[in-house]
Amino acid sequence: MSIWSGDRWCDHEYDNLQTIKNNNVKSIIEFGCGVGTKLFLDNCDNITSVEFYTKDKTLAKSLKISSDEWMLKCKEKYKKYTNWNPILIELTDKFIMAEKDITGKTLGLPRGSNPLNEDYLVELGDIIDEILYETKYDMGFVDAGVHFRGDIVNVLFNKIDIITVHDVNNRAHGGNIYGYLRIKCPKNYEHTKGIKSVSGLSIYKKK
Ligand SMILES: C[S@@+](CC[C@H](N)C(=O)[O-])C[C@H]1O[C@@H](n2cnc3c(N)ncnc32)[C@H](O)[C@@H]1O
Repeated sequence: MSIWSGDRWCDHEYDNLQTIKNNNVKSIIEFGCGVGTKLFLDNCDNITSVEFYTKDKTLAKSLKISSDEWMLKCKEKYKKYTNWNPILIELTDKFIMAEKDITGKTLGLPRGSNPLNEDYLVELGDIIDEILYETKYDMGFVDAGVHFRGDIVNVLFNKIDIITVHDVNNRAHGGNIYGYLRIKCPKNYEHTKGIKSVSGLSIYKKK
């Protein structure tokens, strides 16, 4: 099967498309680009894809996180789209330490742990604030090739009115391999779920 073939990785498409149509979404910032990016590019005016990565391919393989190769493939695939803004962000040591804790590579920590040191959260907030300072987005979509996805969701609350989050039905490793147990939904957002995604799509919408 081609790497561009659809599978469970993009079983969020139906529910995301309904969310786009029902809320007149014109602009999206997605964390983690891939096959599903095409749906957004074809249905919205302005898409930014943020890809966190490490240049160290051995480390990427060991932690099961993204290297820069993937974004290069995406850049080639979507080069004709003028409504696409890809952003590559290299993971610093603080993020890598957190990834090692989460993925059980730190001695004594099982896969699905919360990071011991939360310093990466400050950096994450700064990175996202800088991107959002440039442009306002109607919707955020979190499906990144790293494991601190739950922390990305927390940063987006009260900065973006609609946030969708993929793979929330993943119960492996205590259901926390993507840090989704760390999500703190504020009272001014309502939380629903998509109806077709088997992997699970959470939809957070500002009331
Ligand atoms: C679960 S995928 C989802 C990407 C996108 N949101 C989609 O729906 O297609 C998340 C991450 O996995 C990585 N990835 C996806 N497909 C890949 C492939 N065929 N080979 C290597 N990495 C891949 C990328 O880092 C991507 O950001």
